[in-house]
Amino acid sequence: MSKELVSIIDVPKHLGQEVTIGAWVANKSGKGKLAFLQLRDGTAYFQAVAFKPNLIEKYGEELGLEKFDTIKHLSQETSVYVTGIVKEDERSKFGYELDVTDLEVIGESVDYPITPKEHGTDFLMDHRHLWLRSRRQMAIMQIRNAIIYASADFFDKNGFIKFDSPILSGNAAENTTELFETDYFGNPAFLSQSGQLYLEAGAMALGRVYDFGPVFRAEKSKTRRHLTEFWMMDAEYPFLSHDQSLDLQEAYVKALIQGVLERAPQALEILERDVTLLEKYIKEPFKRISYDDAITLLQEHEGEEGADYEHLEHGDDFGSPHETWISNYFGVPTFIVNYPASFKAFYMKPVPGNPERVLCADLLAPEGYGEIIGGSERETDYDKLLEKIKENGLNPDDYAFYLDLRKYGSVPHCGFGLGLERMVTFVSGTKHIREAIPFPRMLHRIKP
Ligand code: 4AD
Repeated sequence: MSKELVSIIDVPKHLGQEVTIGAWVANKSGKGKLAFLQLRDGTAYFQAVAFKPNLIEKYGEELGLEKFDTIKHLSQETSVYVTGIVKEDERSKFGYELDVTDLEVIGESVDYPITPKEHGTDFLMDHRHLWLRSRRQMAIMQIRNAIIYASADFFDKNGFIKFDSPILSGNAAENTTELFETDYFGNPAFLSQSGQLYLEAGAMALGRVYDFGPVFRAEKSKTRRHLTEFWMMDAEYPFLSHDQSLDLQEAYVKALIQGVLERAPQALEILERDVTLLEKYIKEPFKRISYDDAITLLQEHEGEEGADYEHLEHGDDFGSPHETWISNYFGVPTFIVNYPASFKAFYMKPVPGNPERVLCADLLAPEGYGEIIGGSERETDYDKLLEKIKENGLNPDDYAFYLDLRKYGSVPHCGFGLGLERMVTFVSGTKHIREAIPFPRMLHRIKP
């Protein structure tokens, strides 16, 4: 059999021709002289139909029957080379079908554990290495890929240079989140929580910079939005004001959504994502509201239908019910700006004239998908930064390199970090973050 293979996604380009596909049997059904194979190859799903009389006509009675029998008895996830003629078929949900002329088994699959029936989440998580083969998981991974591609494209078009931050670090980037510690030849080292501090050094050397890599947080959170290992895109840029920084972030998130609409429309369709909403988020301006105005708004609407969140005072942090209500109230991605300094990281610059609040913003995705971006304007003054480091109980020696950036030509600069998996859940409409990364690491999950 010729191994000049065609991907399933490209099959429609070969209408009327004979092609060979390398694929797995996702499902199978049959009736009398017909056998239907649902095939998948990671690019898409597709149906092949074997008709017994056609095979007998082509190969003779004995070999034709043998081939048909093999096809009829294929088990789920057997890998195959299938050859056939591409035909248009309106009844098929793919619009096309393959009229099978030959089939070769590559690898058998016996008792595949994930059958077409429903399985519990624990079972699926234990079989994540196989669960990834399902249609829904394929679609989510395609969306993840489209976001990564759109991100690199956006940064490239906007004059950013990719600047890789280290994963092993001698200090904490975020004093507000937990660190994973490891032994570094007899000294403690920490897994990066964010590349930000190193990226700031990059910004002073190269101007606009970004990184994209795994980050780690030893948070004991058992929510549908938290992973202990996730992928972050951080960006850092000199000479932009906080407002201009929000403009940039808004354009970035819109470009990511646009990238998914362009590169993975079939994945959005499989997931039944409401694309009219995604289009709306691109067209309409994002909302911006201060932390204090958001607290007042929550207080005003408390007790109304759908507003069943806990009462908050100015100075309290939002819980996820508050974030969900706020973003639903505005119906578009919403920046909450100027949070209290007390629950934000040490490096943020205070709001001029109001040292209790800092020039930061969290971007809340609508529809209850939670925070997707955290960013801020950075403190530029050496003495103020040193004071903040001490106030937070951190050791200034660990931050000597970071303080140096304020000693030698300090300039105003801002930056942000977007959690890739949060963005994937939002754009794909997936309720739980565990499906947004190939092998999720969570409080009680490190295998497979
Ligand atoms: O808001 P965070 O903590 O910001 C920082 O780390 C800054 N240093 C970024 C910067 O300014 N360069 O995290 C940024 C984003 C959050 O908005 C969220 O999307 C995601 O990272 N995130 C998580 N995603 C999954 N699991 C977790 N445990 C996450 N914690 C944060």
